[in-house]
Amino acid sequence: MINVFQPTLGKEELARLEKVFASNWIGKGKLVDEFEATFAKHLGSTPQKVLTTNCCSEGLFSSMHLCDVNPGDEVILPTISFVGAGNAVCANGSKMVLCDVDKRTLNARAEDIEKCITKKTKAILLLHFGGIPCEMDEIMALAKAYNLKVIEDCAAGVCSTYKGQALGTFGDMGMWSFDAMKILVCGDGAALHFRDEELRERASKWLYFGLETKSGYENSVAQKWWEFDISCFGHRAIMNDVTAAIALEQYKKLPMYMEKRAAVHAFYNENLKDISWLDLPIEIPQDCTSSYYFYHIQAKNGKRDLLAKYLRENNIYTTYRYYPLHRVPGYGVTGEFPNADYAADNTLCLPMHQSLSENDLALIVEKIKEFDKKYC
Ligand SMILES: Cc1ncc(COP(=O)(O)O)c(C=O)c1O
Repeated sequence: MINVFQPTLGKEELARLEKVFASNWIGKGKLVDEFEATFAKHLGSTPQKVLTTNCCSEGLFSSMHLCDVNPGDEVILPTISFVGAGNAVCANGSKMVLCDVDKRTLNARAEDIEKCITKKTKAILLLHFGGIPCEMDEIMALAKAYNLKVIEDCAAGVCSTYKGQALGTFGDMGMWSFDAMKILVCGDGAALHFRDEELRERASKWLYFGLETKSGYENSVAQKWWEFDISCFGHRAIMNDVTAAIALEQYKKLPMYMEKRAAVHAFYNENLKDISWLDLPIEIPQDCTSSYYFYHIQAKNGKRDLLAKYLRENNIYTTYRYYPLHRVPGYGVTGEFPNADYAADNTLCLPMHQSLSENDLALIVEKIKEFDKKYC
């Protein structure tokens, strides 16, 4: 089966892990610091604004507390969002207010968001769909005009930029996932970016029990190092030197991954462009870069499900992301979301990863063309 997403891991990660094992320290340590510094540089930011955690979902949940979103406050998010975003808002006792999205990019636009703003709106929880940048100038202007917090779910946008600035660094808080299905993977892990260093400080305590002091050797011997105080009732959600070791090696390979993914994107564009019932992804604006996390097509002939089934029967796995939250009965949200409904019913994510071979790509295109002949 050709996978829809797939990590690429090699001997470099294993070699680094061997060193971690030999060091006798597999917890949070120097490698986590090194990864935070490396990733901060990658974002064009500073380590004082970047913090790692155990997963991006933790970032979503914690963003509610860290951005002072209170129970009863309203949070606007696109209905096409990751389930963890919806859960983060609801678990906080806040009101999830869903907005529609652009039909083709699946990103929320400023106009979609503005329609949902009320006096109770506290924050916008934005998703950059597959790392394709949202229109940040317009959205940030809106946030400023209405004094709203902006939280960017940039889970898949590890190399995405908007007008030269890393995605995820516009809002009060941004986050990237390094889980098993992402581009830079480490098993589980995530990075958080904060606009203010002070918030990063608060977050670092919040993500470690609210402890005022560090533990173990890092504590001063001037005091009894087993005594402690807390500043809040925080979580325990940290990366460790095992995951950081993998992430550091993966980071070195990012340029190679991006090159490969861009080539896959270009290959699909070129080879699927003549299929009249297919809409291909909108080209990324010149002043933006994508991470090419998804390659999503849209079947204008209503045959998306049939196509997915046909490809799967031919050992090609595809999927659709993200099931709209307004269709999840558990959230109990009603409303009209025509663009999101169109997207959810017609969009298909084709295999997109850096390990796809020429043969894989040729087969995928061949099978889509075969489907075209048989069923369209
Ligand atoms: C858009 C989006 N946000 C957040 C997450 C959560 O990431 P993690 O698995 O690191 O918790 C995911 C995971 O798939 C995602 O796709």
